[in-house]
Amino acid sequence: MDIADKFIEFFTQKEHTFYPSAPIVPDDATILFTNAGMVQFKDIFTGNIKPPANKKAVSRQICIRAGGKHNDLENVGYTARHHTMFEMLGNFSFGDYFKEDAISYAWEFITTILKLDKNKLWVTVHNKDDEAFNIWTKHIDQSRIKKFGDKDNFWQMGSTGACGPCSEIFYDQGSEFDSSDDYLGGDGDRFLEIWNLVFMQYERDKNGILNQLPNPSIDTGMGLERVEAILEGVDNNFKIKKFTTIIEKINSLEEKNSGPLSSYRVIADHIRTVSFMLDDGVLFDKDGRGYVLRRILRRAVRHGYLLGFKEPFLYKIVDTVASTCLWHKLNTSYIKEQIMLEEQRFFKTIERGMEIFNRELDRIKENSTNIVFDGKIAFKLYDTFGFPLDLTQDMLREWKITLDIDSFNVAMQEQKDRAKKSWRGSGDDKKDINLKVLIDKYGINRFVGYKQIQSSSKILALLDENLKLVDTLNSDEIGWIMLDDTPFYATSGGQNGDIGVLKNKAKIIETKKIFNINISKIKVISKIATGDTVDAIVTSRDEVSKHHSATHLLQSALKIVLGDSVSQAGSYNDDKKLRFDFTYPKALTESQITKICDIVNGMIFQGIDNSTKELTLKEAKQNGAIAMFGEKYGDMVRVVEFKNISMELCGGTHVENTSNIGSFYIVKESGVSSGVRRIEAVCGKSAIDFANSFMIENRLAKELLKSKDLLQTIEKLKQENRKFKKELQKQDKSDNDMKNFDVKIINKVHLIVSKIDKGDLKSIIDEAKN
Ligand code: SER
Repeated sequence: MDIADKFIEFFTQKEHTFYPSAPIVPDDATILFTNAGMVQFKDIFTGNIKPPANKKAVSRQICIRAGGKHNDLENVGYTARHHTMFEMLGNFSFGDYFKEDAISYAWEFITTILKLDKNKLWVTVHNKDDEAFNIWTKHIDQSRIKKFGDKDNFWQMGSTGACGPCSEIFYDQGSEFDSSDDYLGGDGDRFLEIWNLVFMQYERDKNGILNQLPNPSIDTGMGLERVEAILEGVDNNFKIKKFTTIIEKINSLEEKNSGPLSSYRVIADHIRTVSFMLDDGVLFDKDGRGYVLRRILRRAVRHGYLLGFKEPFLYKIVDTVASTCLWHKLNTSYIKEQIMLEEQRFFKTIERGMEIFNRELDRIKENSTNIVFDGKIAFKLYDTFGFPLDLTQDMLREWKITLDIDSFNVAMQEQKDRAKKSWRGSGDDKKDINLKVLIDKYGINRFVGYKQIQSSSKILALLDENLKLVDTLNSDEIGWIMLDDTPFYATSGGQNGDIGVLKNKAKIIETKKIFNINISKIKVISKIATGDTVDAIVTSRDEVSKHHSATHLLQSALKIVLGDSVSQAGSYNDDKKLRFDFTYPKALTESQITKICDIVNGMIFQGIDNSTKELTLKEAKQNGAIAMFGEKYGDMVRVVEFKNISMELCGGTHVENTSNIGSFYIVKESGVSSGVRRIEAVCGKSAIDFANSFMIENRLAKELLKSKDLLQTIEKLKQENRKFKKELQKQDKSDNDMKNFDVKIINKVHLIVSKIDKGDLKSIIDEAKN
């Protein structure tokens, strides 16, 4: 039984419910990645969600600390304990037990289960937390309890919300690690922080005031790799079994020369993180989470380059990574494909980029007065050669040279300005202010269009074309309308917004959501005013819904034919067509496309009812609903389900029964970017139009071929062509024939050898005989 299993067993025996690791891409737009065990319980701590019946929980959570607020990327490889990915073991109390139990559980686990030497343990508490101090004195000598202030011993999720003092447990690795900054909680490696117990007893309000929480809670986090290092008797996390296995694998790859140990460690850390991120649906990208993934991979490639690798090598280590984390099954074939493609992209430019980097480095080394790396060159490396800024900084760190970040930022800004010049300004800021006034006045209006496509609604507000509030709009004017209850679906989740009419009053041209207010663009037929009641009627809905539902069926069919690793990378549906982007490394074959089409049509023919329902996000996930990564859903989510064939979190509109979709044709399959494919398809009325025009073209082609006149004309032309060629040959023959023939006599037989046009063989042979 490994440490994590022991931890889970220890707390489940103390009646805690076990929660498996939540996705590393959280349902939380405020953080890039899950960076602590408490992230999946955040809404319980803040009171947004009621705590579960059992208020005691235990978890084993994969955490990423790269990019965003918690960023350890630059330290990895250079310290003994920083990782971009690590596992956090934690026990939690949602208003159940508090300090007394939290401390005694922690002490019992580390001293009786892990059997750590008590003489090597130290603890810290907040300097105002006498309660925690007194509890600790029951377990450990006072001299080993240190008090610190807010900086070290106060933990909060953000500027507001649940927070409280914390208490940390340290393991003394021995005086051989002594260094000037080796105090508890410092940067040195002697005192290793292994467990943080957070006592959530306050809620910080908007004004920064701490209010006592009625039900104080517990959130603890223990770094698994650090504890493994102690128990395996090694002084550095990278010496534990799961890292040495990976480092040995890197060492066994042939193309490599020798190089610094730190490079092996960086690669070993980063390949784990990259594998888990890809497994969780993150894609290499130019910004956001995908860019963090790219930065980590490119940093690893560059360290591989230092070791002598000149072509993709990281993907070869993925199977080894998988073998070190058997408790979590990684989709290795997909991960390897994605890594190899990204490695190929970077290996194309790394050589040239390194030349430019080294040239500037040489310049600095020769020039003793200017020892700063030019930011413009760093920008060129970033922009043209794909070197993320922190990669260049990492390379400079080895030479103790700093980067002129100001000139980098200037170059970046200049590029943005250039890009902006070609972008027509919309005066968005001013428009936004008007819309915020609307929210303050009316709040968010209600979409009533799931069940009805018609409603009698009141006009809450009217806006002119520039989104300025007005009281009335006259005939022929264009403007925007906010209804109290609106049946018009606003563009979102890939579904195009509704069009329609306000009976006898206006045409609805488009509908969209801004700051969550649903507003429609209108062309006025007869004067309307704020406060009027109008008959709002949707005219576009049926065909859009068919395409949206077909997109869901398509996603299921893709998973059946191409495998479960296919995940949505974008979609679009309107009344004429659908487009679905998904992760897959290569073009689909004709037979795969046919199979996908057949499966979707099969699902349509089965005539399955739509059983959409509202569930909590957790229930939805437990039921296996597909959610798009990175999207933020509210507490209650809408689950669109066609029983046994498709279940997705979706806010869009859908058909009542799959048979309403009619039929489905894939019109085009193409690549969008590396690793992402696109399918364009039609259904409903558009499918009939598509099939009709296909049939007409087919018939016309056949008609044309059948046409007697045409056949006769072709025959006549062919004859004329033959005649013409013969004439030409005759003319040429007199001076060319003999030159073109090579005549040999073999055993009294004349052998004539010539290179001739196949069609004219007979006449040429005749000529030659003559
Ligand atoms: N949330 C705390 C931390 O991340 C304890 O889990 O340290």
